[in-house]
Amino acid sequence: MSVTELPSWRELDAHAMRLRDARIERLFETEPDRLKHFCLEAAGLYIDMSKTLLDQACLNSLLSLARERQLSKAITAIFDGEIVNPTENRSALHTLLRERKKPSAGALAIERFEQVRAAREQIAAFSDRAAKGKLSGFGGTPIRDVVNIGIGGSHLGPQLVCDALRYEHEHGVNVHFVSNIDGGDLERVLAPLAPESTYFIVASKSFKTAETLLNARSADAWIAQHFNNPNATQSHFAAVTSNSSRAVEFGIDPKNVFPMWDWVGGRYSLWSAIGLPISIAIGSERFDRLLAGAHMMDQHFRTSELATNLPVMLALVGIWNTNFMGCESHAVIPYDDRLRLLPAYLQQLEMESNGKRITLQNTPTDYATVPILWGGVGTNAQHAFFQQLHQGTRKTSADFILALTHQRSSQVHHDMLVANCFAQAEGLMRGRHRDTLGDIKNPTEKIDLLAHREIPGNRPSTTIVTDSLTPQTLGAMLALFEHKTYVQGVIWGINPFDQWGVELGKILADSIIDELSGTNSSRHDPSTTALLARYKNIRNAQS
Ligand code: F6P
Repeated sequence: MSVTELPSWRELDAHAMRLRDARIERLFETEPDRLKHFCLEAAGLYIDMSKTLLDQACLNSLLSLARERQLSKAITAIFDGEIVNPTENRSALHTLLRERKKPSAGALAIERFEQVRAAREQIAAFSDRAAKGKLSGFGGTPIRDVVNIGIGGSHLGPQLVCDALRYEHEHGVNVHFVSNIDGGDLERVLAPLAPESTYFIVASKSFKTAETLLNARSADAWIAQHFNNPNATQSHFAAVTSNSSRAVEFGIDPKNVFPMWDWVGGRYSLWSAIGLPISIAIGSERFDRLLAGAHMMDQHFRTSELATNLPVMLALVGIWNTNFMGCESHAVIPYDDRLRLLPAYLQQLEMESNGKRITLQNTPTDYATVPILWGGVGTNAQHAFFQQLHQGTRKTSADFILALTHQRSSQVHHDMLVANCFAQAEGLMRGRHRDTLGDIKNPTEKIDLLAHREIPGNRPSTTIVTDSLTPQTLGAMLALFEHKTYVQGVIWGINPFDQWGVELGKILADSIIDELSGTNSSRHDPSTTALLARYKNIRNAQS
């Protein structure tokens, strides 16, 4: 049965009809204790969902929907390591990566916990060595720069966290990130670096990803050329992978291979050895605080009632906006330069997880799943796309994210940042009616300037604040979004942990690569054939 046939879904359709002419700001009058139900706090985060066109009756139906989808059972299932990824027959135990104590029962759970514990110790030992200058290259020079080579979940999370915690860096080693197959990415990073003091982490769960392997081979050539010795690899490379044999085959010393497991999804893996660059950058003690923050959110998610459960409520508000309020996309707008990479990270987390069209009953959905997620940093976004948010024809829901204090910004700067963040959320809700614009002189009699300057408002947003951005609050925030993603997958009845959709592009690219290298010729559509011909011509002309 489709989720749309559930009584609660039908109730929500009726609520949407009932509220179609309502105004968000009016709800604060009709529900005096609105903030009590729509503002929640846990694990160092405060989430204000009150600027959404959603009243208590509607929320009750959303909670009924969660219950009809047996959400509480699903929450228990993921923590217990049940098969929540049925198309790959796997668990999704990213929560185990930040678990603090050994499970009391279950041989498999205990075995996995011991594996995690051993990996954590390996990460700490390696990053502490690097931070103390005890990690040296083939020629004995202490390592000054570590380059993480990875893409997707092997790149976005570590890069985001290293950037976000830029004020927490130990000053021993600089960490860099290379991900794109575009040779310019590797070139840009390596240009200022010295081979003798540069170390590479090849981060790839599969150790098969084309971009990562080619970048790793090019980096290895850079090292070998400098030392004029192919044996240098072992002193300049580590690997983070679940495919250790392929890493050793590449030339990496087995003692420098860090484990990953198939029961942790790539986009949920920054808490594992994929987070090695984080631990090197901020130190193992702060990395542990990141894990601890995520664990606090895990405990909240696992034990809280649905109505006071931050990930659950964030997920339900998102479903209301996208499935019932016609929001076509969702904008994530961090008012903090340290979180400028958060939208890109969440694009993979949410859109690679819930960008699905087939339910776990093997049938196409007859409802929308994840909205297009995008965003940008505030206040820059106000000078880029906020015009569309305020006066465009397409409705967008928005998350505003803000730290209330900032250890490196002056009060006058931070006051302006905070003021703009809150003002934009208020403006999206209130808009500006033409009657409030006073007498405005039209440029010509053909133009009714009031019509052009009126702002409709009634556009929903959520504001997520933390007192300060620390390893702990960042960990809690990222875990919040992981659990929100899972909850929405459960409600939509889809699998948030596989990604079959990314395969076709890789297969077609491999075929074209073979064609370009002359090892095969494949038939394409006229468009692709013509484009390839143009490329071959210019490439041949250059050679
Ligand atoms: O985008 C497809 C994907 O498999 C992601 O899920 C993953 O994070 C990324 O490619 C990198 O995969 P790997 O870590 O195996 O190199």
